[in-house]
Amino acid sequence: MSDRKILVTGASGKLGQQVVSYLLNDFDVKPNQLIVTTRNVESLAELADKGVDVREADFSSPDALEQAFHGAHSMLLISIDASGPRTQAHLNAVTAAEKAGVTHIAYTSMLAPTQSPVVFAHEHEATEQAILDSAIPNATVMQNNWYFDNLPDYYASILQTGHWLSAAGEGRIAQLSRKDLAYAAATAVVKGNQSKGLHQSKVTLPMHGAEALTHAEMAKVIDSVIGTSINMVHLSDEEYQAQLESFGLPAPIVSLCTTMDHHNRLGLSNGTSDVFEALTGKKPQSFESWLEENKAELQKLANM
Ligand SMILES: NC(=O)c1ccc[n+]([C@@H]2O[C@H](COP(=O)([O-])OP(=O)(O)OC[C@H]3O[C@@H](n4cnc5c(N)ncnc54)[C@H](OP(=O)(O)O)[C@@H]3O)[C@@H](O)[C@H]2O)c1
Repeated sequence: MSDRKILVTGASGKLGQQVVSYLLNDFDVKPNQLIVTTRNVESLAELADKGVDVREADFSSPDALEQAFHGAHSMLLISIDASGPRTQAHLNAVTAAEKAGVTHIAYTSMLAPTQSPVVFAHEHEATEQAILDSAIPNATVMQNNWYFDNLPDYYASILQTGHWLSAAGEGRIAQLSRKDLAYAAATAVVKGNQSKGLHQSKVTLPMHGAEALTHAEMAKVIDSVIGTSINMVHLSDEEYQAQLESFGLPAPIVSLCTTMDHHNRLGLSNGTSDVFEALTGKKPQSFESWLEENKAELQKLANM
């Protein structure tokens, strides 16, 4: 590792913490080569104690951002979790990175943001475009597939109720673990676009896992590892929306779920892991192996 400085935004988040851990423990990045940002520096006190440069940065306060990014050569911009104000916040971060002289930016986007019906797709599309249009000379746009981890994080009701309401039909999804995507992001900021097969200054990488499974196929793998007996309920978009509304879910959540299944049904999350393997030099974890690793937590959610 040279004396280039790497900056990671969103370092307090679930993805960011794993990226930072990979950088320090697997990529030989020294604490004094690492800058991390957060809106609350106290939350990263442990990293500061190790010698990491912890800085305050709020993407919605653009004036202070350039200073917060100052001195960074390669920067990982982790998409923030707030939908709505997210586009402007991300554009503020890209502009500040450009002004601060960042020479390589990696960004955690989603698959096919231009074609996708998902409610937040336009935010990723705008951010990708800003990165491509910026004067930052090198960029790795990582179009991340969905995480396996969304099962316990957002879809625990499948395990809790034993019913999987799905409007994704036969759409195949090549999901992967958040940990693997963190490893890929760490690789991108360390190696830039020097990995095998990546020779352009700005690249857009579809990040898929090893297997592309339909929801029904995923349910079978879950059943065999976790011991559940999931009942697949195949619905149209309209039926899915009506069911979710009948549970009293807020309208933004209903739109999010229905548009995600529409995206999946269109096959926009289908693909192979070739790009992941070219970037990282390793095979992504399979769904079965991830379920085994998280079996105890998942069985608890399923009340087993
Ligand atoms: N592909 C998928 O299936 C999938 C699933 C979940 C999420 N994601 C995406 O991946 C991203 C990272 O996920 P995660 O699980 O690590 O999220 P997370 O744990 O909720 O962390 C979100 C991070 O965003 C930062 N943040 C929020 N508002 C900010 C602002 N105004 N300025 C600067 N930073 C801000 C937070 O930093 P501080 O609070 O420290 O300031 C936090 O570190 C998400 O935001 C989402 O875009 C993808």
